[in-house]
Amino acid sequence: MSYLEEYNNSIENPTDFWAKQAENIDWYKKPETILSKDDQGNYRWYSGGTLNTCHLALDYHVENGRGDQVALYYDSPVTNTKKQYTYTQLRNEVAKVAGALADMGVVKGDTVVIYMPMIPEAAMAMLACARLGAIHSVVFGGFAPAELAIRIDDAKPKVLISATCGVEVKKIIDYKPLLDRAIELSRHKPSKVLIYERPEQSCEMIEGRDIDWKTAVSQAAPADCVPVAATDPLYILYTSGTTGTPKGVLRDNGGHAVALKYSMKSLYNCDPGDVYWAASDIGWVVGHSYIVYAPLLAGCSTVFFEGKPIMTPDAGAFWRVMEEYKVNVFFTAPTAFRAIKKEDPEAKLMKNYDLSSLRAIFQAGERLDPPTYHWLKSISGLPVIDHWWQTETGWAIVGNMTGLDSLPCKVGSSSLPIPGYNVQVVDEEGEEVPPNTSGNIVIKLPLPPGTLPTLWNDDKRFKESYLSEFPGYFSTSDGGYIDEDGYVFIMGRTDDVINVAGHRLSTGEMEELIGAHEAVAECAVVGIEDSLKGQIPVGFVILKNGVTITEEALQAELALLIRQEIGAIGCFKIALVVDRLPKTRSGKILRKTIRKITDEGDAPVPSTIDDPDSLSEIKNALAKRKIGKAFQD
Ligand code: COA
Ligand code: AMP
Repeated sequence: MSYLEEYNNSIENPTDFWAKQAENIDWYKKPETILSKDDQGNYRWYSGGTLNTCHLALDYHVENGRGDQVALYYDSPVTNTKKQYTYTQLRNEVAKVAGALADMGVVKGDTVVIYMPMIPEAAMAMLACARLGAIHSVVFGGFAPAELAIRIDDAKPKVLISATCGVEVKKIIDYKPLLDRAIELSRHKPSKVLIYERPEQSCEMIEGRDIDWKTAVSQAAPADCVPVAATDPLYILYTSGTTGTPKGVLRDNGGHAVALKYSMKSLYNCDPGDVYWAASDIGWVVGHSYIVYAPLLAGCSTVFFEGKPIMTPDAGAFWRVMEEYKVNVFFTAPTAFRAIKKEDPEAKLMKNYDLSSLRAIFQAGERLDPPTYHWLKSISGLPVIDHWWQTETGWAIVGNMTGLDSLPCKVGSSSLPIPGYNVQVVDEEGEEVPPNTSGNIVIKLPLPPGTLPTLWNDDKRFKESYLSEFPGYFSTSDGGYIDEDGYVFIMGRTDDVINVAGHRLSTGEMEELIGAHEAVAECAVVGIEDSLKGQIPVGFVILKNGVTITEEALQAELALLIRQEIGAIGCFKIALVVDRLPKTRSGKILRKTIRKITDEGDAPVPSTIDDPDSLSEIKNALAKRKIGKAFQD
């Protein structure tokens, strides 16, 4: 079927379309309704159906002749380790981990927080939760204790699963003190903590609370898959919003399984037996969907890579892994290729490897900038496919459906909407705008299966954040335009969320932390363009009267503060002291204007501005340190 036919069909007859896709998974009980609304008025897919996501990802394949195929390759240049698990081996391990969790009292509907590095046990922990019908919430290993504590308090896990350390390029991150500190900070205390001891680091166990993974798993009886409702939650994944409190994006079991399975063939053109590699981290949505669940749901082999695009040991790391596991489809964030390009501009290292198995390179997580696209295309000679999505949707909203008919690429655009997503651009009043006109990108309701039905324990915030601004639509908080051929161009966030090296962070949260510093009266944090990381944060700070700290000293203190409270991934390194911030007459900081000045060197004076001279204050602060677009080559 052509893309256009499939797309139109999905929009005109969504229930028929998604009923057909649902036939591709092995339900315990088929859904009674395809699309319905729940008590809170939210759309729900596949009510009445029962299934188990772990069964679909593992047992189903073992029972259908795929038991000896590799399910997961683990490649860790930072620890010099390589391992592989067949579907049978992974199923057996996961069943034992599920047994250990059951022994700790975990039952269907319980929550479990997972704070782990990129080791196979992390995938096992996720799948073991799914097996029991428990709801996992993975917290990225690079987050500081305070961030972990916020998530523990919101998810209220019965059990927390972790490892003794993460391994970065040049350092070992000792997790146990971070973990203990987080539990100290949180009001909710998990009753048990399951710890996987890595050879690189041991730890002190707290008696009565901490349990050794290897002992518990070896003593456990394998647990069977527990049937859950299609609408039961599979996981909660916290993502940055505009405030210090992250949003707990909820994912259900039924819609997720159907959508991800559909995407593997129609979007990525992968068949069972193919090798699929998403170089990301299980702490992000890409890791949930395309390192763990989707490749396994589709009977592919997935690659778990504990390394970096560069430095582990060099900029040939990705090419080496692609050759070694005969990767067919690869997916990562543009920042990773910008890092490779910087180290190895002519891609000389690539020539050392046989990449004949590779069919396509997918990119997401941030805008694929045209120079990176052209470079990657020219060195690989392969289709380079940008696709746009968010934690909220769990899978792509816009992209080139390579499993249907590949469409011509327009550089700078992530192509056309994926079947199921009715993507529109609206102005501030919610009116649809003509082609090539910039505005707010929205998705007409209902969203397709796999997307968030609501936020964990906060339906009010769900409606306020996503549904109330443009009634009838889901507001994505991304801005951009659609051209005359329907190609969607995503130009960046319209809110206070920034994307640093493909990591989604909240400038609002940074402002809350910086604002609490004893020297700071007020501040505004915005993202500025960075040639490697896409964006990095920069803080404009007003000092309290009488404070005499130098800009340099304040900057160092604030950088340390963000590092301690959010984590090193915050990459906060620049603080500029100013006397005034541009504000409206009602006192609201004009962040959009500040962003424009940092990005473009200047901005029109907003009609609502209280003090037009405050704009020069921002320009001067940037000029003094030669920061921002105006000072780039
Ligand atoms: N645990 C603990 N610390 C972590 C971490 C983790 N899982 N991940 C990153 N950090 C730390 C790093 O060690 C670094 O600390 P430092 O400031 O003390 O050196 C800091 O956070 C910043 O890390 P990072 O953003 O990775 O920057 P980098 O300069 O080390 O590497 C890139 C740059 C481009 C190679 C790297 O950011 C990268 O691989 N990006 C791709 C990200 C990605 O795949 N995102 C997923 C979206 S699909
Ligand atoms: P996350 O929820 O971490 O996946 O981040 C989602 C945000 O990343 C989106 O709202 C976009 O701002 C940005 N993003 C993701 N993919 C793309 C893309 N292909 N092009 C442009 N921006 C993207």
